[in-house]
Amino acid sequence: MSAPDPVIPWAQPILFGDELTYLAAALESTMLSGGAFVDRLEAEFASIHGVPPSHAVSVTNGTTALFLPLLALGIGPGDEVIVPGWCFAAAANMVLACGATPVFADILEDTWLLDPAAVARCITARTKAIIAVHTYGVVCDMAALTALARPRGITLIEDCAESLFSRYQGHPAGTLGDVACFSFQATKTITCGEGGMVLARDPQLVSAMRLISNHGMTPDRKYWHRVVGHNFRLTNLQAAVACAQLAHRLEIIELRRRLYAGYRRRLSGIPGLHLQRVPAVVDPLMWAFAFRIDPSLAGISRNQLMASLAAQGIETRPGFCAFSEQPLYRAEPLRNSLAAGQHILSLPSVPNLTGQQISFICDTLLGCLTPIPFEVAS
Ligand SMILES: Cc1ncc(COP(=O)(O)O)c(C=O)c1O
Repeated sequence: MSAPDPVIPWAQPILFGDELTYLAAALESTMLSGGAFVDRLEAEFASIHGVPPSHAVSVTNGTTALFLPLLALGIGPGDEVIVPGWCFAAAANMVLACGATPVFADILEDTWLLDPAAVARCITARTKAIIAVHTYGVVCDMAALTALARPRGITLIEDCAESLFSRYQGHPAGTLGDVACFSFQATKTITCGEGGMVLARDPQLVSAMRLISNHGMTPDRKYWHRVVGHNFRLTNLQAAVACAQLAHRLEIIELRRRLYAGYRRRLSGIPGLHLQRVPAVVDPLMWAFAFRIDPSLAGISRNQLMASLAAQGIETRPGFCAFSEQPLYRAEPLRNSLAAGQHILSLPSVPNLTGQQISFICDTLLGCLTPIPFEVAS
């Protein structure tokens, strides 16, 4: 059966019209590669996060935002970087791309974020960094991770691709560790199609990142390459769109908060649906609303539920696949990461869904949970 039209999509960028005006201004300036919008985006992004303007480095996407600091830190073969056993794969992939070894630590059962006790067990003399991925908008236990990393000289990197504008103990996500990485991909809270940003505390690391992201070319001597570099530069065109989006951030934040509250109101306390736990110190801005389904209580598996919702015009996404399930990563199975990989799904997280659409999604979902009789083995 084909899905009814129109389908409620899982994600859709929200555009305000100013994007076109800013884009036209960038085109008219004829500065298409670097330009005033790139400088403005970096300065505004830094200011929003309360860091000095020069400490924000814009890049081509959230993946290069992870790659760049790892390269600038000199992380390579023989080094280990601790990453969650379940999350979007960019962090683990970039560790591998550096020639270093990702070491997978299990996540907590209820927040689905790095378990500090598991991280502690993974630390060795080779550990150079920990990447705390703030999945779906909830921020990791940064106090515990800082206590592990700082005394040992381990760099603590925040992957904020899914947690722009979330807060931890009142501080913006991205200002809690040594380095933070953001994505402006089309589904993200602020988007320009593809794009990213890195924030770093250490000015020397910032300089090293700027050098690598611009071909390793010294700023004071043209075509003189000091290190092996890449081209990770965000274009002025993309920066213009991101600046327009940033100007509307309060509306975006408001819409996302409303969507999250709407889902929570209807779906909290339902047997068999475990919503992601948000610790009291975290004020999240959710990127996606997700839950872990317990098939024995809900009477339906994650994949069956996704299929039922799709048949009724609601697009959902499964949670990420645990790394241990993917041969590429040669990872040992970790209990909570495996369960997350099998049972999590996320609902449409389009910020401007109407109240009616949210009700329709929740009603349809709850209608699917009627326990089904289990087949008796013959
Ligand atoms: C947690 C996380 N990190 C990194 C990325 C990579 O960002 P990008 O798609 O901009 O490369 C994504 C998303 O796509 C993500 O969800």
